[in-house]
Amino acid sequence: KNYKIAVVPGDGIGHEIVPAGLKVVEAVASNHNFKIDTEFYPWGAGYYKRHGEFMPEDGLATLQKFDAIYFGAVGLPEVDDTLPAKLYTFKVRKSFEQYVNYRPVRLLPGIESPLRYKQREDIDFVVIRENNEGEFVQNGEIVNPDTPEGYATDTSLFTRKGIENVANYAFQLAQKRRKKLTNVTKSNTLINSLLYWDTVIAEVAQNYSDVTYNKMYVDNAAASFVLKPETFDVILTTNMIGDILSDLGGAIMGSLGFGPSGNINPEKIYPSMFEPIHGSAPDIAGQNIANPIGAIWSAALMLEHLGEKDAAADIISGIEETTRKQTLTVDVGGKASTSDIADSIVDHLSTK
Ligand code: NAI
Ligand code: MG
Repeated sequence: KNYKIAVVPGDGIGHEIVPAGLKVVEAVASNHNFKIDTEFYPWGAGYYKRHGEFMPEDGLATLQKFDAIYFGAVGLPEVDDTLPAKLYTFKVRKSFEQYVNYRPVRLLPGIESPLRYKQREDIDFVVIRENNEGEFVQNGEIVNPDTPEGYATDTSLFTRKGIENVANYAFQLAQKRRKKLTNVTKSNTLINSLLYWDTVIAEVAQNYSDVTYNKMYVDNAAASFVLKPETFDVILTTNMIGDILSDLGGAIMGSLGFGPSGNINPEKIYPSMFEPIHGSAPDIAGQNIANPIGAIWSAALMLEHLGEKDAAADIISGIEETTRKQTLTVDVGGKASTSDIADSIVDHLSTK
């Protein structure tokens, strides 16, 4: 088999973590007798400085021809930070109906969670973040900002179809896991949008009687991430709540650099996009010190999505072997470089 992958490193540490991920993918592909054809696209905030746009006008048409998109992160301190999501990330997620954002939170072997009293088995859940609508539809305005009457709005949008789609995915995932789904909401105060969200999810829950369904408010959920992460299996939540909670998820795994994600179009009509949960980390870019494990794990999610389950499992066991033997980057107290981590995982693959 031959897979066509569009590679968008983006900005900042994207240029370090994405090559690390590709190195691992190349190694695992040759072990499992499939091929990866990569095409690189230099899009993002750096591209914007030269061309006035984050990707060319035919960028989406170009991406659509691929089996998957492997992405780093976009954004640079000197570029208006309202643009990366609008002109690249959300645009791709929305256009390609990647309405599921799949974000596993799992403590890796050899890593001490900042929650020191928690063991590996206590931290193992998945955040399913609605990825196409909600709080991030960017529908609003700033009116008369410099006058005493100034005001600003951002109107959320939740549709029955959008809620049902992501809910069905999350319940089916729960059926394959520990059969527990927690809807993280705030319907006690967002009494229109999130009350509707809860109502539609409760309806969908009726079709999955084998899954234990419960609802929790986000303020309590944030505390529970820290105090009792073992109570979670699948979390289903909105675009903004999921964005915030998944960084907290990265933190309890020991570093934001560990968190992987898949922006999934479950129907496979369009390519899905795989990226670490973090951003372009300009504060550490260019030093070969970024933790590439979130990006490498995202590559494993990509191979799994393409149907290469054994290859994906090999990458995960390579990651686990590497953290177990304490080959770690500085963010988790080690001395290894970004490329050292990739090399360590590739070494592990060659011993299989
Ligand atoms: P960030 O996630 O880039 O960084 C937050 C902190 O975590 C920084 O101290 C950084 O050094 C650290 N960090 C992140 N990834 C790491 C890794 N792999 N290894 C070690 N340390 C790591 O978030 P921030 O600083 O809020 O945003 C920076 C830029 O990234 C902004 O322009 C923002 O808009 C953009 N961004 C882009 C995203 C995307 O393209 N999907 C997602 C989030 C932010
Ligand atoms: Mg985020």
